[in-house]
Order: sequence, then structure tokens, then C-alpha cells
Amino acid sequence: MHSIAYSSSSSRNRNLMIGAVCAVVLFLLVLNQNSLGDGSLSGGGYGGSSKGLSTSQEQLINNLVKSEVENALLSHMPKNTNSKKTSDNGLQVAELSESKRMRILVTGGAGFVGSHLVDRLMMAGHEVIVLDNFFTGRKKNVMHWVNHPNFQLISHDVVEPIMLEVDQIYHLACPASPPHYQYNPVKTIKTSTMGTLNMLGLAKRVKARILLTSTSEVYGDPEVHPQPETYWGNVNPIGPRACYDEGKRVAETMMYAYQKQSKVDVRVARIFNTFGPRMHPNDGRVVSNFIIQALQDKDITIYGNGEQTRSFQYVSDLVEGLIRLMNGDYDQPTNIGNPDEYTVNDFSKYIKELTKSSSVIKHLEATADDPRKRKPDISVAKRELGWEPKVDVKTGLAKTIEYFAGVLDEGGEIVPTGPDATKPKGGY
Ligand SMILES: NC(=O)c1ccc[n+]([C@@H]2O[C@H](COP(=O)([O-])OP(=O)(O)OC[C@H]3O[C@@H](n4cnc5c(N)ncnc54)[C@H](O)[C@@H]3O)[C@@H](O)[C@H]2O)c1
Repeated sequence: MHSIAYSSSSSRNRNLMIGAVCAVVLFLLVLNQNSLGDGSLSGGGYGGSSKGLSTSQEQLINNLVKSEVENALLSHMPKNTNSKKTSDNGLQVAELSESKRMRILVTGGAGFVGSHLVDRLMMAGHEVIVLDNFFTGRKKNVMHWVNHPNFQLISHDVVEPIMLEVDQIYHLACPASPPHYQYNPVKTIKTSTMGTLNMLGLAKRVKARILLTSTSEVYGDPEVHPQPETYWGNVNPIGPRACYDEGKRVAETMMYAYQKQSKVDVRVARIFNTFGPRMHPNDGRVVSNFIIQALQDKDITIYGNGEQTRSFQYVSDLVEGLIRLMNGDYDQPTNIGNPDEYTVNDFSKYIKELTKSSSVIKHLEATADDPRKRKPDISVAKRELGWEPKVDVKTGLAKTIEYFAGVLDEGGEIVPTGPDATKPKGGY
């Protein structure tokens, strides 16, 4: 009896103590939040609102990004490594020995694909430097790493040279959506040519391996279907897409010229259509436009008769392919894409069904030089990298729909970008 009375009074005291400690911690957290609330990079962490976004919008995106990182990427933690919580975002980061830990540069690392790649590299325990001019990239895509000791974010344009000490370079910097890369075609050409020359110069100087994210656009409007890497393509050199397509083609040429002449260790990934959370809501591409239109029950707009085909891969599959290509021995161009092929008509119906939307599907005038068919031949990736896509389109779409639904819920209406050249809009 006595002992019971004693323990209940001691647990009351303990509860009082815990309550007091919680109150102090809460007070400090609020204080800290306020003091870091300018959204500045040095402040780091969550919180803070950038221009045009309410705090609740920012918070929502941070939460969406965080949960996407946790859900989709924790499963990729390297096995048999000790890991510890070093990140203030609560993410587990593997501890690598000095001999295994690399310093890795990701140009365009604040963009859609780049930010997912950064997550994988960070969680594997490497030191990661992101270099980005934030043309289409967004700081919030990598904000969850900003205070981590293994992470560095540099605001820089790849058209200008830069001196860094790194072991590997993933060279992604380049806008990927047609309305965005057509907004300033001369700049797009400079980014692909001068930017790639600068990165190759850096790779040569520091003896780093460099991987270029090239594109299925090097095949243009293909006359061979599906497209193997041996196909030389069918590109209109003076069409509206040429700044991107020809820019990437010459970037590939530069990669192999540097390999031959200067013994630079190169890798070239030819990426096919990729989708997933953190896509720019205004990038004007099929997946984001259809989802955003369907979720808002607005007309789903198809340019042309919709019989053109596309194949869509989920972003985690692409990231896996890029990492395998970078770390394997195969040095020739490699297609990375999902061969699951859809007509744009069927794809629009599929998204309408998945979103349970009442949208009407409408056809508008076809855009210039739009490829009629796209489907990767991935036998090289299977053979050389042991890679093939793992995420089916339905699963990937479910995650992407959830992401955009959250953004719409908090941020309100989004008017998708049409096919005309346009500057990327901020926000979201
Ligand atoms: N997403 C796809 O479906 C796809 C398909 C084929 C190829 N790719 C290639 O993959 C790479 C990444 O594409 P994404 O979809 O993430 O596009 P994205 O537009 O989201 O990312 C590109 C990133 O590069 C940055 N950038 C652009 N110009 C720059 C410059 N001059 N200096 C520094 N940074 C610059 C942007 O701010 C952005 O962060 C690109 O090279 C693209 O060509 C993507």
C-alpha cells in the first residue's frame, strides 16, 4: 500500500517534470522557428516562406517532399552498413568509411530528377554538392538536406566555369520541358554546350567520372521503333525543339571527344519520359498536365489526334539506372526508360479513370515536330547494368496524383502550361 502511494506520487512528480521540460522545448522550438523564418539557405530546415507562397503552402510541400523521401527512398538504404540519424529532418543517412565515401557533384540537383538523385546519394552516405541556377529547379526540393554536414548547395550557372574538388559528376543541368527550354533557346544551347564543356573540363582536371543525362530526344521523330542506342535519330536541326535535341546531341559528341582525346571517364544516359512527385506543375508535359487538369475536372487537352505514343518511367527507376550506369564499367550511351507504351489518348483516359475525374478530353492543334512514337529498347541496360524498371505506371501515377492533389488542396487552382514557350513560374 505504502509503496503504491509512494510510486504514484513519484510518477505525479515525474509527469510534472516531463510537462515542464516539454513546455521549455516547445518554447525553444517556437523561438527557433521564428528566428529561422526567412527561408534563407543558411537558416535551413523547414519553415520560412518564399515569395508568393503562404507558410501553409510551403509547409505542405515540405511535408509532401519529406514523406515522399521517407516512403520512396528509405527502402534503398544500403544493406550491411551502420547508419545513424545525423539529419535534422529525421532521415537516416548511412555511414560510409572514408575509402567508400565520395564527393559527388550533381548539376541541376534542385530539379525534379536531380533532387531524387541527391536523396539517394545522401542516404547512401556520400558528400553531395548541388550546383543549380534555379531556372526550373526549386530550393524546396533539396531544402531538407540544407543543414546536413554532407550537403552543399551552390547557386551557379554551368555556363560559367567553376573549380571544385569532386570524385563523380552527374551532369543534369538543363531544362527538360519543351515550353521551358524553348523560352530562351539560345540559353538552352549554351547550357548544353558551354555547360557540358565546363563540366568536362572540371572532370578532366580532377579526374572525376562524369555522367551526362542525355535524352530520347536525340532520336527525334524516330523511324525505328522501339529505339535502340545504335539508331542515329531523325532530328529537325532548325525546328523549335532543336535547341534541346541538338544541344544534347552535341553534348554527347563532346563527352566522347573528351574520352578519346583526354581520357576522361564518361557515361551517357539517354533518358525517356520520366514522372513522379516534385515535377514542376507548370512544365507543360503530358503527365503533370493531365493529372492537374483531371484533378480540377477541367478539360484534358491533347495536342494532335492523340495517337502519338509515349512510354513513362517512374523517377525512382531512373535514379537506380543512373547510379548503376555511373558505377558500372559500361561507357557507351544507354537508354533508361520504361518500354510500357501508351497512346496519348489511352493515357489521358487512364488518368481520368484513376482520378475519378469528370473532365472532358479535348483535342487541340498538334505541336510542331512532336515525335509520333517513343519507346526505349532497354536490352543494353538489362545486359550491362542488370537494370529494368520496377515500378509499374499505375503505382507511379498513384504517388504522383497524391502529390499533385496535396499541392492543389493547399495552393488552390493551377492553370497548366500549354505548348508555347514560357518562363517557368515560381511557387509550389
Ligand atoms: N524528366 C524527363 O523526363 C527527362 C527526359 C530526358 C532527359 N532528361 C534530362 O534529365 C535532366 C534533368 O531533367 P528534369 O526533368 O529534372 O528537369 P528540371 O528542369 O526539373 O531540372 C533541370 C535542373 O537544371 C537546372 N538548370 C538549368 N539550366 C541551368 C544552368 N545553366 N546552370 C545551372 N543549372 C541549370 C534547373 O534549374 C533545374 O534544377 C536534364 O538534363 C534533362 O535533359 C529528363
